Amino acid sequence: MASGLVLVTGSSGRIGRAVVGELQARGRALRCFDRVPTPGVKDMVVGTLTDPACVAKAMRGVTTLIHLAATPDDADFLAEIVPNNIIGVHHVLEAAKEAGVKRIILASSGQVIWNRRNTGPWPVGVDVQPSPRYWYAAAKLFLEGAGKAFADAFDIEVIAVRLGWCPRTKEQVEEIAVTDWAQDVYLSPGDAGRFFACAAEAPGPISFAIVYATSQPVKILRYDLEAARRLLGYEPREKWPQGTQIVVRP
Ligand SMILES: NC(=O)c1ccc[n+]([C@@H]2O[C@H](COP(=O)([O-])OP(=O)(O)OC[C@H]3O[C@@H](n4cnc5c(N)ncnc54)[C@H](O)[C@@H]3O)[C@@H](O)[C@H]2O)c1
Repeated sequence: MASGLVLVTGSSGRIGRAVVGELQARGRALRCFDRVPTPGVKDMVVGTLTDPACVAKAMRGVTTLIHLAATPDDADFLAEIVPNNIIGVHHVLEAAKEAGVKRIILASSGQVIWNRRNTGPWPVGVDVQPSPRYWYAAAKLFLEGAGKAFADAFDIEVIAVRLGWCPRTKEQVEEIAVTDWAQDVYLSPGDAGRFFACAAEAPGPISFAIVYATSQPVKILRYDLEAARRLLGYEPREKWPQGTQIVVRP
């Protein structure tokens, strides 16, 4: 799966920028999609997930899709989560199917197993009963379910990754600094970039997989990283607070 055009949606965001930087460093053919331009990218479609024609335009000629664009936490359900995280997923998956995309990597969240994260038993595996935190996490379960349906029905490789916490702001970095569990599920920008590059490059076939991605835990391994290691060759290299300077720099 190492060759071919990779489309990164949400490329201007916290994780998107890390993924774009890593793929560029590896010399991958890359296209970006976001509602705001991504700096330093030549092949870019600026538009919204809620516009199916725009999504279809971005998908032309794509082999591997990394779908990050979303409202990245709880927000007004009807105004934000439904258009961006439900309707957007529909448009992206349908466009990927029409364009003949071979592998789809979907950004889910550790918030889908919210209660288990603190109670254990650890590490929490990929096959535990989900316990979504609220509407954002419920929509991520929709994303995982839709991904499974597409893998089964259309023979597309689908990897759904339950991501740890990659802080977007200085305030989030400060919150993680005073929260033990958060340090264990911290995901540095560098490890986030490497994870998605591994997921794009891993040899197939991978029919459907759910994996977790975090950096190295500080105290307790809360999310089981075995599936990401075995299927994708992902090994976290960093640990809280490595990489936080990328977030808090002026
Ligand atoms: N950062 C984390 O800790 C974390 C944890 C778990 C899951 N995730 C998931 O990872 C993905 C990326 O998160 P992030 O932290 O980089 O968020 P972010 O807000 O920094 O980036 C999201 C990007 O998506 C774009 N976007 C949002 N709605 C769009 C739309 N309708 N059309 C086009 N572009 C749109 C935004 O412009 C933004 O650039 C999201 O799916 C999020 O739910 C993030």
